[in-house]
Amino acid sequence: MRASVATKSAAALEFLRAAAAEFGSAGELTFANSFGAEDMVLTDLILREALPIEIFSLDTGRLPAETYTLIGEVEQRYGAKLKIFFPDATAVETHVRTHGINAFYDSVELRKACCGVRKMEPLRRALAGKKAWITGLRAAQSVTRTGLPQREFDAGNGLEKLNPLSDWSEAEVWAYIRIHEVPYNALHDQFYPSIGCAPCTRAIALGEDVRAGRWWWEDPASKECGLHVRKG
Ligand code: ADX
Ligand code: SF4
Repeated sequence: MRASVATKSAAALEFLRAAAAEFGSAGELTFANSFGAEDMVLTDLILREALPIEIFSLDTGRLPAETYTLIGEVEQRYGAKLKIFFPDATAVETHVRTHGINAFYDSVELRKACCGVRKMEPLRRALAGKKAWITGLRAAQSVTRTGLPQREFDAGNGLEKLNPLSDWSEAEVWAYIRIHEVPYNALHDQFYPSIGCAPCTRAIALGEDVRAGRWWWEDPASKECGLHVRKG
């Protein structure tokens, strides 16, 4: 396990260095950080190696308290300045006044509308002027991510999308975190393998899919918020 993690970490670092050389110097490369376990591996690689890669996060306003605690820890430990994007206040006010504070439980359309206001619009601002973005996506995470490549053109957002951990297993992610003593979200120790907004994330039972706790009331095939919509 350790040998394979060391090999994969070296490959991921090499991949990030090459990406930084291709896009980084002109500030055209950015890493989308949700502070989940995969993203903590990438955060550690980027900040420990001081790679010239911007790091941004979308604060939807509905994140769990544990995620804010972790963001603070990352700032402290790495002395990092993270670029946090917030939703447009007027758009959130309008959405909540029209549909209610927890409308995401009422229909897939209202859930997608909430993700639209709280994640998609800020994502557009985060990606404006960039040539490539990095994510912590893994192919094994869900049916919607099967066959995910390390690099693809993101036609929806009009830039390259880099997924350095696409072929990593969950066990390899956790081995990296333990070996390098990387801080992680306390919810992971309470059976939350995948963490998003507090009202749309819950713990999973033994044997359940790693993303079973996200939008658990919806069909697995529709469970993407729009950040990672793929063709076909
Ligand atoms: S989601 O689309 O269902 O929310 P998931 O939580 O699996 O995605 O995260 C997949 C990747 O999307 C993360 O590794 C990260 O690159 C990006 N991402 C998800 N949520 C955020 C966020 N709030 N801020 C920045 N990037 C995010
Ligand atoms: Fe809204 Fe839930 Fe989407 Fe967060 S995950 S933006 S609370 S619908």
